[in-house]
Amino acid sequence: MDILSKTNPAYAPPVTKLAEKYGFNIISTLTDQPVLEYIDGRLSFYTPSVPAETMCVDFLKGRTGYRLSTTANTSQPLLKAINYKTGQRLRILDATAGLGADSMLMAVSNCEVTMCERNPVMAALLEDGLDRARDSDQPISAIIDHNISFIHANAINVLKERSQEFDAVYFDPMFPERKKSAKVKKEMRLAALAVGDDEDSADVLKQAIAFAPRIIVKRPLKAEPILAGFARQLKGRSVRFDIYQR
Ligand SMILES: C[S@@+](CC[C@H](N)C(=O)[O-])C[C@H]1O[C@@H](n2cnc3c(N)ncnc32)[C@H](O)[C@@H]1O
Repeated sequence: MDILSKTNPAYAPPVTKLAEKYGFNIISTLTDQPVLEYIDGRLSFYTPSVPAETMCVDFLKGRTGYRLSTTANTSQPLLKAINYKTGQRLRILDATAGLGADSMLMAVSNCEVTMCERNPVMAALLEDGLDRARDSDQPISAIIDHNISFIHANAINVLKERSQEFDAVYFDPMFPERKKSAKVKKEMRLAALAVGDDEDSADVLKQAIAFAPRIIVKRPLKAEPILAGFARQLKGRSVRFDIYQR
């Protein structure tokens, strides 16, 4: 993946750091390929043909910030699915952290969340969003400090080595988008571009079932389960949670 280093010298050190950490290729002029760039202080991913549509992680405002400020309550289907009870401190492995929205919802509910993301672009965006929120003077800063840790890894390895550390594993792999319409959210299109399809989902889930006591799989409402054998399903308006239990 390319990362654009422009003239603002303030961004040179973080660009170099990211390039070293994730193997990105530093460029100084845009090509026609998707690219990472610091825009208004936020690491952003976009395609040069549609520069107005960017993907970044912002826990301070926008959709995620709004969701955080309004919906950290136990009626959330996700919190029901992980079997969250007020006052409990569940230890969750989010095996597919992505842009971190689901992780953050669990973290604001005082779960101890280990975010795991293997894709370098998504990992870099997520780390940038976490760092900016941690450095802010907002309450989210303390939540990140106390409740979130992040690892750039394939969840299969984490499951093999650390499963006993978690009460539950949350698994939300990419789902091939069938409707190629304008309705498909910009973020989902850009995430699909960065990640592709998670074609090994069944293998990861098998590993999770072998090692973890409880696994919650998020699926589009009408999609086939990744594997048979779930203990129960919890259905929302557009998504469903398949719950596997050892
Ligand atoms: C649909 S997104 C997750 C969205 C996330 N729940 C959120 O709230 O933003 C799926 C993500 O899981 C990651 N992923 C898929 N399989 C993985 C694995 N085995 N280990 C680590 N990350 C994985 C993909 O790279 C992608 O970023």
